[in-house]
Amino acid sequence: MNDSNDKKESRQHYFTLHDNLNERSYELPVLEGTEGPRVIDVRSLHAEADVFTYDPGYKSTAACSSEITYIDGTNGILRHRGYSIEDLAEHSDFLDVCYLLLHGELPSPEEKEEFDRDITHHTMLNEQLIFFFRGFRRDAHPMAIMVGIVGALSAFYHDSTDIGDPLQRMTASHRLIAKMPTIGAYAYKFSLGQPFTYPYNKASYAENLLKMMFKVPADEYEPDQVLIRAMDRILILHADHEQNASTSTVRLAGSSGANPFACIAAGIASLWGPAHGGANEAVLKMLTEIGDKDQIPEFVARAKDPDDNYRLMGFGHRVYKNFDPRAKVMKKTAHEVLEKLNIDDPLLEVAMELERIALEDEYFVERKLYPNVDFYSGIILKAMGIPTHMFTVIFAIARTVGWVAHWKEMMEEGSVSIGRPRQLYIGQTERTFTTVDVREHKQSRGWSWLWGGHEN
Ligand code: SDX
Repeated sequence: MNDSNDKKESRQHYFTLHDNLNERSYELPVLEGTEGPRVIDVRSLHAEADVFTYDPGYKSTAACSSEITYIDGTNGILRHRGYSIEDLAEHSDFLDVCYLLLHGELPSPEEKEEFDRDITHHTMLNEQLIFFFRGFRRDAHPMAIMVGIVGALSAFYHDSTDIGDPLQRMTASHRLIAKMPTIGAYAYKFSLGQPFTYPYNKASYAENLLKMMFKVPADEYEPDQVLIRAMDRILILHADHEQNASTSTVRLAGSSGANPFACIAAGIASLWGPAHGGANEAVLKMLTEIGDKDQIPEFVARAKDPDDNYRLMGFGHRVYKNFDPRAKVMKKTAHEVLEKLNIDDPLLEVAMELERIALEDEYFVERKLYPNVDFYSGIILKAMGIPTHMFTVIFAIARTVGWVAHWKEMMEEGSVSIGRPRQLYIGQTERTFTTVDVREHKQSRGWSWLWGGHEN
């Protein structure tokens, strides 16, 4: 916990915890941030009271302090270093936001020129890495390739793996931000059987990503400015989001002293899940499966059925119990892109009708389930010609700066202690070992019992 919080502790009051089993009370300090809920500092609890706190899924747990991003889930607020996501999406560009997340301030013109140049000159990959792509099947999911290639970067960039050296930490951070579009675009080209398109230093970050994905040697390709702006905005909207699952994964991996490339590979793996970054791909599959507005009630009924695990992808959020502010910007961008490209995508109609029905339905209203960042992003990406299985790759490219910023913030706190949660043990108490020759004879039950099949 940084000093300023500890200093504030002296002005804070305490939570008193009463253990009626042992008739003892404990005073736990309360720490107050600059915004958002106060926290009860339970660091001394186990030593003093021999108890753990219990919070599977961390719904009520602050795992760290941070200055990077603030979310107010009740009021649908998202700010990066104090700037609203609406302002950043409207007036900034992605590399500006990267600088802001990493360094805490928007760059001066000189700082911007230097930072943009540094990122641009790290976009190429060591040529040996090309051979790694060839080891995958052509139909490998690009997220599987991203995990593998990013983890392998630590085998190539040894001059930026010393986490104790601030210069090496910064170089690794810039390399990761710069190389993710190249790796993502190469994964896409590999799936198509097309030659890789090298980065182009004269292009902006978003433009370079589109060029590397869609340019072929046999033809010129200049992406439409509408697409470049839309891609840049999508990258901004996905850049960071406080202590989400993948960012928490990166922090936990980093707490063991793992190198930054390994930590980001872990973050990519966590983001891939359909409950997290994989949701944008799942939303498009869901909208395609619904197909027509008339089919919506059937899918909404399934989502509400307590006996059906089906969920409406792109709805709900652990933190937002109001509209995800990113979804609002994404919805506006979807309309802009489709209109400017003169695309009439029936899936947008399905999405808007689904949103309307869900927002009126008691089940969703009661549970405060609103569209999240993933609900509209897929429609824009599809309009840009990006295939569904690349949607989470785009998310990973954007979120790399958030992962890196949190990793950097943690490493700069000085003494990083390894993250090591405890548990409520509910297993067997001690029992005596028996050798197999004296154990009770009984038929093996096979494996069908794993999924509730009939015992033999
Ligand atoms: C991202 O954390 C972040 O910040 C993530 C993210 C980021 O930028 O990093 O914002 C990106 O991951 C956005 C979320 C993308 N995921 C999806 O769209 C998948 C669909 N959504 C759900 O799986 C769910 O809403 C979560 C995972 C997003 C949040 O789940 P929670 O907070 O653990 O909520 P829960 O599972 O406890 O659900 C509470 C209730 C349950 O009903 P009851 O048991 O109370 O009857 O709401 C229901 C759930 O069944 N519910 C849904 C639902 N989401 C929750 N019912 C139908 N459809 C849904 N989508």
